[in-house]
Amino acid sequence: MESVLLTGGMGYIGSHTAVELLREGYDVILVDDLSNSSADVLDRIESITGVRPKFYQADAADHEAMTPVFRDNNIGAVIHFAGYKAVGESVQKPLLYYRNNIDSALTVLELMEKYNVQRFIFSSSATVYGEHNTPPLTEDLPTGGITNPYGWTKYMIEEILKDAAKANQELSVVLLRYFNPIGADESGLIGEKPNGIPNNLMPYIAQVAAGIRDHLNVFGNDYPTVDGTGVRDYIHVTDLARGHVAALRYSRTHTGAEAINLGTGNGVSVLQLIHAFEEANGIRIPYEIAPRRAGDVAEMYACPDKAEKLLNWHAEKTIEDCCRDSWRFQKGIADELRVMRSR
Ligand code: UD1
Repeated sequence: MESVLLTGGMGYIGSHTAVELLREGYDVILVDDLSNSSADVLDRIESITGVRPKFYQADAADHEAMTPVFRDNNIGAVIHFAGYKAVGESVQKPLLYYRNNIDSALTVLELMEKYNVQRFIFSSSATVYGEHNTPPLTEDLPTGGITNPYGWTKYMIEEILKDAAKANQELSVVLLRYFNPIGADESGLIGEKPNGIPNNLMPYIAQVAAGIRDHLNVFGNDYPTVDGTGVRDYIHVTDLARGHVAALRYSRTHTGAEAINLGTGNGVSVLQLIHAFEEANGIRIPYEIAPRRAGDVAEMYACPDKAEKLLNWHAEKTIEDCCRDSWRFQKGIADELRVMRSR
């Protein structure tokens, strides 16, 4: 039987994609160096699906460590999630980001060539649209004009993949450009677990709700948007994961390189998200208006039509689902900590 290899498969989006693939009956192999995830995610994937996928603890950039993964399995497709993703850190440590993210993509592509694997799905980001495009963002817009090295690594890997697909007529490359993933699996067992102070909005809101932080800073209320706060396209991570299942199906009959947005098409402001969270969970989120954050744009949301047309996929969950599921996962973390402390 053919397997699907997920690099970075123990992380936030990788683990949710693993769950959706297993629910659909795919054979899944996970690779992760656990640098930003923990080994117990495997147990949790097993609890949710009843299947324990094969797991290799390895750095996807490490040719030697990755060789047995390709040599000893019949891999039909790769979904490449592995990569560093902290925007601020990438500004401080650009070489680390370029080395790690580009190296891991190259290593996986070289091994795919060696072992004749012809389907590659890439975890890209709406960040490739940069600062200069006006939403709704369509895939044919020029990419570039990005404000940080993390985003440039996504851009550069997209370019590498387009060249690889030009040179190899059998290769199928799908560049999935994610908007803002939030939420968690309904089980509450897997979700986003940032290290330290969260940079992203939803994990921060969840930590304020849990009493870990006393208030949220809203970065700017003078943007030309519905209420002055930044507008983003928040997509439930389970919808996003199902987008990968759809892309995998599509790649069976596709060759070349295709960029596809995974977003809902709806813009939601910071204040709207705060209020949705308060409504969905019955918890008040204290916030203060703070200065704009460097590098932020006023509005970002997808045109989701291409995903509907090519993948027959669209997001189904609501912003309330996102808020409820993010909070369920966050509460689970708090309960675990309490149990650990009381031992
Ligand atoms: C950011 C990255 C993007 C990355 C994505 C997921 C930038 C410019 N973009 O997207 O490349 O793919 O995270 O990791 O960094 N906000 C607050 N208070 C907070 C946190 C956020 O008001 O404490 C606001 C932001 O100003 C923004 C919105 O919430 O308007 C969403 O921010 P965030 O969750 O960090 O995502 P992006 O900046 O859209």
